[in-house]
Parts: sequence; C-alpha cells; structure tokens
Amino acid sequence: MVTGACFANLGNEVICVDNDLRKVELLKKGKSPIYEPGLTEMVQANIREKRLFFSDSIALMVRRAEVIFVCVGTPPKDNGEADLTAVESVSREIARHMTTYRLVVDKSTVPVQTGEWVHRTIAANRRKNVSFDVASNPEFLREGSAVQDFLSPDRLVIGVESKRAEKILKELYRPLKAPILVTDIKSAELIKHASNSFLAAKISFINLVSRVCEAVGADVQKVAEGMGLDRRIDPKFLNAGIGFGGFCFPKDLSAFIRIGEKLGIEFGLLRKVLEINETQKAAFIEKIRKHLWNLKGKHIVILGLSFKPDTDDMRFAPSIDIINSLLKEGVHLRLYDPQAMPIAKKMFPKTTFARNPYEAAKGADALAILTEWPEFLEIDLARIKKILRHPIIFDGRNLYDRDKMKKMGFQYYGVGR
Ligand code: UDX
Repeated sequence: MVTGACFANLGNEVICVDNDLRKVELLKKGKSPIYEPGLTEMVQANIREKRLFFSDSIALMVRRAEVIFVCVGTPPKDNGEADLTAVESVSREIARHMTTYRLVVDKSTVPVQTGEWVHRTIAANRRKNVSFDVASNPEFLREGSAVQDFLSPDRLVIGVESKRAEKILKELYRPLKAPILVTDIKSAELIKHASNSFLAAKISFINLVSRVCEAVGADVQKVAEGMGLDRRIDPKFLNAGIGFGGFCFPKDLSAFIRIGEKLGIEFGLLRKVLEINETQKAAFIEKIRKHLWNLKGKHIVILGLSFKPDTDDMRFAPSIDIINSLLKEGVHLRLYDPQAMPIAKKMFPKTTFARNPYEAAKGADALAILTEWPEFLEIDLARIKKILRHPIIFDGRNLYDRDKMKKMGFQYYGVGR
C-alpha cells in the first residue's frame, strides 16, 4: 500500500492488486485497512487524481503495467524459513498474462536466490518469446514512518541483471533524489536480511549492556550516548528496552539463520540475538516481581501494546509475552493503547481495557509502560500519582526522566538505569 500510494504520488499510474476482496473494496473507498500516519490521506488524494487504482485482477494489472512490484507476504514457517508460496504463485500468474516486455521487481523480503527462482518460474510459464526482466528492490520502510521513509530514504538498493531494468528503476526513483546502489540480484536480496539482522543485533547488544548497567548501578542511556558519539557506531538503534518485535526483525532473523543453515554456515551470533530478545522480556517481569513481591492478585496497568509507537501492529509485540506471563501469574491487568486496542481485544478477550491512561491507572498497584507512544509524554503524571494505589512505574522503554520521576515521588524503574 505504501509503495503503491507513494509511486502514485510521484505522478505514476499505479494499480494495487490483492486477492483479498474485502481489502480491495475498502481501499477503493479510500479507507485504509491498517493505521499508518499520512497513508490514508495520500491514498485518497491519489484516487481523486485518478492515478491510484485497486483491483483483485492480476490479468488486468499485467496488461496495463510495465513495471510490476511483488509485495506479497513471506510469513515464517514453523522452522523459521520464509514461506515463498505467494511469491511463486504471483510470478506464475504474471507470466501467464504477459504479452510484451515486463519488469518484475521483488519487494517482498525473500531469501537470497529467490530472484533466480522467480526468473525460472516466469520463463517456464510465459508465452513464447515474451521478454522480461527480474529485479530485486528491497524496502527498508519502518512501520509508523513508512510514508516518510519511502519519500526520503537513506539509500535505494536495486539488484538487476540488465541495463534495461536498471534504467527503468532509476527513472522511477529519480524524483526522490536519493543515493541508489546498483548491485546484482543476490547481493540486493542479502542487503535486506543483513541490514535487519544487524539492526536487531544492535538492539540485543544494548539490551545485554543494560543488564550489566542494572547489576552495577550504571546508566545505559549514558553508555549508549557515549558509544553513539563514535561515528562508526552511530546512536540509532541503541535504545535499551523490553526487546524488539514486529513482523520484520524476529521473522527476518529466523529466516537468515535458516539461509545460513542451508548453506552450511552456522549463525550462532543471530541465535544469541534472538535469545537475548526473549530473556529481555523475562528480565522485565523479574523486575516487577522484585519490587512488588508476590504477583498473584496484584493490579497492574499496562500502557502501550503495539510493538512500537505510531502503529496498531501487534505482531510479535513484546507486550504479548509480558501480558501472557503476568496473566499466568494471576495478575489483574488493565490495558491501554492509543491505536492497538481493537486488535488487542481480540487477543485478550477476557482482559479489561481502559479508555485512557487515567481510567486504566485507577487504584492499581503499579503501572508499566511497554510502548513509547509520544502521547504518554503528555500524561499528567501528578494526576496519575494520585490515582495509583502505589506510585510505582516500570518503564520498559525509558520514556521518562528518571530524576524528575523520583522528585515527583514515584518509585521509578527504567531499563538499565
Ligand atoms: C524494521 C526496519 O527498521 C525496516 O528498515 C524494515 O523495512 C522493517 O523492519 P520496523 O519493524 O517497522 O522496521 O520497526 P523498527 O523501528 O525497526 O523497530 C523494530 C523493533 O525494535 C521495535 O519493537 C522497536 O521497539 C525495537 N527497537 C528499535 C528497540 O527496542 N530499540 C531501538 O533502539 C530501536
């Protein structure tokens, strides 16, 4: 959706195809099935300008579009490997409807060598003599800032096997004025998995350092700041917390580990990154236990459910494991999130939800922050302090100023501080 809407916004005619008719119908009316800042407005504007269309017909799209971006899901199988069934099936469909040259660009996150399979699939299913190219153009969009990330990317990666494909893609992206790295297809595919794994490793690294900080009484935010001032390290993705979630990092790490395994390369480093991410959540529960003593029967407020702010996405959100552990221990929970509650209510149908942080905090033994929503910075903390039965805050995202919280009379526990 983001890719389609943004390409339309750059002045191209775009047809977005999905086999989920409900989504297609919703989008035709300019309604978004997901929450992503700025996206609905952009979709509506481009529908009005007659540049953006939605359909469930691959045939229609292949007839009209010279460049076809494959953005289908590649969900994890039980063994962590990416499920490429959808990539194969749309490649086959595209091939069957091609009558003249088409450029098929893979945007889905796929294991290295998928481009070769897509090429073979199209070659085997096309009508004779219809020429085509396959390319890889991994996306690095973050949820919550996807539109912004598309419009001003750090870099664009284009994996191609022909000058024609390179020219088309460069032309398409020219208005963004971003650095473009042209590579072979396999390297482009690897850049995506390697980048996400590296970023996840950075997070697990600082989370591990946060445990050392807690053990000795140091401040992980200062440690991260000191590290980040070294330009080789960079301060980004050094925020300690309750671990990473979402539909990219956990799944891409597992897929990369599987790719290594298949090639006979042991990715123990990445296994450790995942393991630290799991134990980081357990460490947070332990912290709550340490300060509340018995958990059974205690009332705890959870603020923030989505895996990160500015999205309603709860896939692999650390909040899920933390909530499940607390419920298992017999804790009474009251949950609040600015966007993710409709989804969370389906996941936790028996748990109580509140309309705002104040309603959530009423009479609770403690409050825990699991997502750093900017609106939590606007909360009237003095009011919260009065409402809570005990002024105890577990801040899983280091959102608040520790000294200020202490001055206000809170028992305040961040991560690694
Ligand atoms: C990620 C990549 O950043 C993006 O390039 C790729 O296209 C898709 O995967 P996304 O999953 O949307 O994007 O979110 P991101 O901002 O990377 O955060 C992922 C998780 O890491 C979140 O749960 C976030 O809370 C956590 N995180 C991030 C930290 O715990 N600490 C940090 O310093 C940064």
